[in-house]
Amino acid sequence: MASFKETFSKALLTLLVGQSAALSLFPGSNGNKLQLASVLGLDGHTARFNPEKIAEAALASGPGAEIPIQRTSVRLLLIPIDHDDPSVGTYQNRYWVSTDFYKPGGPVFVLDGGEDNAISLAQAYLRGSNSFFVDFLKEFGAIGLVWEHRYYGDSLPFPVNLSTPTDHFKYLTNRQALADIPYFADRFTLNGTDLSPKAAPWVMFGGSYPGMRAAFTRNEYPDSIFASFAMSAPVEAQVNMTIYYEQVYRGMVASGYGGCAKDLKAISDYIDSQLDKKGQAADDIKSLFLGKEGIHNSNGDFTAALGGIYNLFQNYGVDGGISGLSALCKHLDGNATSTGIAPIIGAKKLTEKFSTWDELMYLINGRNNNCKDQSNSTQITCDLGGPSADPDTISWTWQYCTQWGYLQADNLGPHSLLSKYQSLEYQQSLCYRQFPGAKESGLLPLQPDTNDTNAETGGWTIRPSNVFWSAGEFDPWRTLTPLSNETFAPKGVQITTDIPQCGVETPENVLFGYVIPDAEHCFDFDLDYKPADKSRKLFSDALKKWLPCWKGTHEPKRSHVRRTSLKYWQA
Ligand SMILES: *[C@@H]1O[C@H](CO)[C@@H](O)[C@H](O)[C@H]1NC(C)=O
Ligand SMILES: *[C@@H]1O[C@H](CO)[C@@H](O)[C@H](O)[C@H]1NC(C)=O
Ligand SMILES: *[C@@H]1O[C@H](CO)[C@@H](O)[C@H](O)[C@H]1NC(C)=O
Ligand SMILES: *[C@@H]1O[C@H](CO)[C@@H](O)[C@H](O)[C@H]1NC(C)=O
Ligand SMILES: *[C@@H]1O[C@H](CO)[C@@H](O)[C@H](O)[C@H]1NC(C)=O
Ligand SMILES: *[C@@H]1O[C@H](CO)[C@@H](O)[C@H](O)[C@H]1NC(C)=O
Ligand SMILES: *[C@@H]1O[C@H](CO)[C@@H](O)[C@H](O)[C@H]1NC(C)=O
Repeated sequence: MASFKETFSKALLTLLVGQSAALSLFPGSNGNKLQLASVLGLDGHTARFNPEKIAEAALASGPGAEIPIQRTSVRLLLIPIDHDDPSVGTYQNRYWVSTDFYKPGGPVFVLDGGEDNAISLAQAYLRGSNSFFVDFLKEFGAIGLVWEHRYYGDSLPFPVNLSTPTDHFKYLTNRQALADIPYFADRFTLNGTDLSPKAAPWVMFGGSYPGMRAAFTRNEYPDSIFASFAMSAPVEAQVNMTIYYEQVYRGMVASGYGGCAKDLKAISDYIDSQLDKKGQAADDIKSLFLGKEGIHNSNGDFTAALGGIYNLFQNYGVDGGISGLSALCKHLDGNATSTGIAPIIGAKKLTEKFSTWDELMYLINGRNNNCKDQSNSTQITCDLGGPSADPDTISWTWQYCTQWGYLQADNLGPHSLLSKYQSLEYQQSLCYRQFPGAKESGLLPLQPDTNDTNAETGGWTIRPSNVFWSAGEFDPWRTLTPLSNETFAPKGVQITTDIPQCGVETPENVLFGYVIPDAEHCFDFDLDYKPADKSRKLFSDALKKWLPCWKGTHEPKRSHVRRTSLKYWQA
């Protein structure tokens, strides 16, 4: 067993070492994996720079972890590549099953893996001893499933790599991917017993993009999915997501780091002023952070690398150990001056101090670079740009560049946290760079088609019945969920914790949901995070109220017409 476990760990390791952007800030920042790492109690530095530890922790968290889940319960199903045209063929989609807590007659709970290889999700949540999902399985005597999304992990209609022809991505659309789980559900049997949605109620769970999928699937396939828990689910597609950093700013202020946020603005303003001068001044400021070997990098690529300091925020808040924002703030100003220390020591000195933060070089170099000759390798390369070679990142980049938007440029203005070179144009250029020629061939839109996406899904106006929505107060993604309180969000939505009647949609100005105080992204996943108890319990109470009304009869399909026209202010 031990040796098998080791082999298995190594397999996981190779899967996890690749970088994956997921729903996150800059390409390569490992959104999903950081989320899992924070739930598993790993510090931010380890999570970022030793991702194999995430795999090990996920593996160790399951009881009887020496019996690899891959062995015992992985399954494959042939799925049509094109749900509208069977002649295109099929591919194998991967999923995992747990019957450990199943009581005959119980429901089927499916946790969606979203924009990542789902194996560590299955390991940590389907069997883990400290798993919110296992708690739900136990409480309801449910069968547990983890579903891997098409084009991620091993669920590949086509191989995904840097040479994948662009037209192979044409089946990576929200509509095609949403149809997969209902197709699978209709065919699901266990030991020859029908456990399709005709025979058992299916409930979908997801956080982040999977949370969107949980809500959309209930909305569009109510015959298949009876109820959903949509956690931190930014269902509104939007090109301009500068609001992301506004939330980071608010979170920093609420945690007592308002002075530090001012300092970080002073630093990026200073860096911008040097870049604006061009010539020697621009070379010098790049050289301060990257060494001479780094001065050829564009202002966008250079300042994007510095922006990596915020990557932990959505999963750790200002914490996260030596790599977290609070550690950086302490490095900049040990006295945590409420006005920031820049007015005292000056922006230039402060910028130099910033450049000496130990973690920064790790952030800039990641796994592939050797800026400032930090890794002692003979090769000094410092090329911060370039497309990502990680398959999951490639697939997610396709998805956000075509349909979702979410371009996280600087929140220009008094709360700005990034360089002004982190513009929407720069973020958009990453789409073109990742898929060369795709814009010209018309396969990649000039901008993400968010209007079409919202017209198709209903965006944040949808109110499917039997759905509970949660998000953290300072979750950068809350801003595009129906729990958004931003000035650009629908006005006058009343958030209620009164459980609606089974099968009854609330009016558009009422939402069954909960904003978790002080929390960030997907904190419902973390059982140790007590303020999320209320959110988890609300869904459990709601399910207890709704499940008895399940009859196995088919409900009428909802139309997916967007109900109101909303204002957009996309770039
Ligand atoms: C990369 O993708 C191409 C085109 O889809 C495929 O032919 C090739 O086998 C893939 N390479 C790897 C290493 O998977
Ligand atoms: C399915 O069948 C196997 C072998 O007969 C048995 O061990 C297992 O408990 C059954 N599972 C369920 C959920 O009934
Ligand atoms: C804190 O402020 C005091 C008094 O101004 C100063 O002497 C000290 O060096 C500061 N400490 C740090 C860590 O910045
Ligand atoms: C590079 O070499 C120096 C001197 O031998 C050593 O102190 C340092 O830790 C090394 N750095 C890395 C990243 O290995
Ligand atoms: C999206 O819709 C809005 C409002 O309906 C419109 O102003 C905007 O031009 C549209 N954007 C695109 C890219 O079509
Ligand atoms: C939305 O909520 C956040 C966090 O509670 C708060 O800081 C912000 O001011 C609110 N936004 C608006 C527009 O009210
Ligand atoms: C992006 O959205 C913000 C509001 O969140 C707005 O202030 C800003 O002007 C927008 N940027 C562009 C280029 O439209």
